[in-house]
Amino acid sequence: MNSSLATVAYIGATILFILSLGGLSNQETARRGNLYGMIGMSLAVLATIFGPQVTAEGIPMIVGSVLVGALIGLYAARKVQMTQMPELVALMHSMVGMAAALVGYATYVDPEASKNLEGAAHAIHAGEIYIGIFIGAVTFSGSVAAFGKLSGRIGGSPLLLPARHWLNLVGLIAVIYFGREFMNAHTVEEGMLPLFIMTAIALLFGIHMVMAIGGADMPVVVSMLNSYSGWAAAATGFMLSNDLLIVIGALVGSSGAILSYIMCNAMNRSFISVIAGGFGTTAAAPKPTGEAAEPQGEVSPILAVETAEMLREAKNVIIVPGYGMAVAQAQHTVFEITKTLRDKGVNVRFGIHPVAGRMPGHMNVLLAEAKVPYDIVFEMDELNDDFPDTDVAIVIGANDIVNPAAQDDPTSPIAGMPVLEVWKARNSIVMKRSMASGYAGVDNPLFYKDNNRMLFGDAKKMLDEVLMALKA
Ligand code: TAP
Repeated sequence: MNSSLATVAYIGATILFILSLGGLSNQETARRGNLYGMIGMSLAVLATIFGPQVTAEGIPMIVGSVLVGALIGLYAARKVQMTQMPELVALMHSMVGMAAALVGYATYVDPEASKNLEGAAHAIHAGEIYIGIFIGAVTFSGSVAAFGKLSGRIGGSPLLLPARHWLNLVGLIAVIYFGREFMNAHTVEEGMLPLFIMTAIALLFGIHMVMAIGGADMPVVVSMLNSYSGWAAAATGFMLSNDLLIVIGALVGSSGAILSYIMCNAMNRSFISVIAGGFGTTAAAPKPTGEAAEPQGEVSPILAVETAEMLREAKNVIIVPGYGMAVAQAQHTVFEITKTLRDKGVNVRFGIHPVAGRMPGHMNVLLAEAKVPYDIVFEMDELNDDFPDTDVAIVIGANDIVNPAAQDDPTSPIAGMPVLEVWKARNSIVMKRSMASGYAGVDNPLFYKDNNRMLFGDAKKMLDEVLMALKA
C-alpha cells in the first residue's frame, strides 16, 4: 500500500472514530457507534500493517502479536463479570501507558529514529520522547493502583502522606530538571540516567496521585485515567510520527476529560479537589463498603407479595436501579415486571443516576441488554421533579445514589452530591440484602423514613417472587 492510500485509509478511520464517539453518546445509536468504531479500528490496523512504515519482514511479527493480544482480549471479555468492568478498563489503561513508555525508550535507542535530526528538530524529538515516557509511566502506575483499589486488593481510603502537595511539587521540579539534563545529553548513554530517574518519579507520582483519592471519588479516577491513556496514545503517535495515533489519542484524551468533568458534576465535586485527593478523611469518614451501619431507627420490612400488591395498585412507578441490580443480574426480571405492569396500564419509568453502579453508563447497558425500551429510561435531572407525583418508587440494589443525607447532612462524605429524591414519592421500597452501606460507606436515612419499606433479599430472587405474585 503506498503512502497516499494509507493516508486516505487513516482519514477514513478518523471519520469513523468521530462518528463512533457521536453514536455512543446516545443509547439508540450506541450499537451503530460501536460498529463504526470496529470498522474504523480494522481499517486503521490494516492500513498500518500494509502501510509504508512496515516492511515485509515485520508483518509476521505484527500479525503474531495481534493474534496473541486478540486471544487474551477475547478470553478476558468472556470471563470478566459486568461488575468487574471498571477493573478491566483500569488494567487496559495501564497497558496503553506501558506501551507509550516502552515506545519512548525504543524510539530513543533507535538510531534510525533520530537520524538526520539537528537543532530544533532534534530538541522536539527529544521532548516528545521525554513527555511521552512521562505520561505513559504516570498512566501505567496510576492505572495499576486504580485496579488495586477497584478490585479491593488495596483499601479504598485515601492515602495522605504528610506534605503531599509539596512532594508532588518537588517531584515536578525534579522532572523538569532531569528533562533539561536529558535534552542536553550528547549520547544515548548519557541521556539514559535522567530518563530512568524521571520514569521512576513518574511511576511514584502515578501511584501517589491515585492512592490519595478516596473510594467515593473512584468514578472520576476511572474516566481520568481514560483521558490519560488517550494522551499517552497521542504521545506515542508523536514519537512514531503516526498521525492517526495522534488524532485518536487526542479524541480519547479529550472525551475522557469531558467525561471526568460530567462525573465531577454528578458528584458535586470540583475536578481539582478530586485530583488533589483526601476526600473522606474528615470526622465523618466513611466506613468501608458493605459494613453494617449503626442503625439510626426502625425500618419496616415488606414482603414480595405486598410489593406486588402495591405495584399493581399504583398509577405511576419509578424504578431506580443501582449496583445491586448488576450484582444480582436482575435486569431481565426487571424488564418482565415492567412489561407486566405496563400491560396493566401502570406508567413505569426508570431513573438513572450518572454514577449508578461501577462504571459510566452501567445501568443503561444492563437495561438495554434486557431490552427495556429507551423511551422510559430517564436521566436523574429529567425526572427528579416527578417523585411527588409517583405512587411507588422502587430502588433495586442502589444506596448512595438515593441517600437524602447528600442534601440534608453537610458533614456527610457525600454532602452535595445530586441524588434521586425517591423519599418524595408517596411510597418507596428499597431492595437490598441487609442494612449494609453502599460504595461510599455511609448510612442511608432513607431506610428509616415513614413512607419507606425494605424488601430484604437478593434482588433477582425477590423480583422473581414479585413477578410471580404480579402474574398470579
Ligand atoms: P451502592 O451505593 O454501592 O449500593 C449498592 C447496594 O446494592 C448495596 O448497599 C448493597 O446492599 C446492594 N446489593 C449488593 N448486592 C445485591 C444483591 N445481590 N441484591 C440486592 N442488593 C444488593 O451503589 P449505587 O447506589 O449504584 O451507587 C454507586 C456508588 O458507586 C456511588 O457511591 C458511586 O460514586 C460509586 N462508583 C461509581 C462508579 C461509576 S462510574 N458508576 C465507579 C466507581 C464507584 P446489601 O449488601 O445490603 O445487599
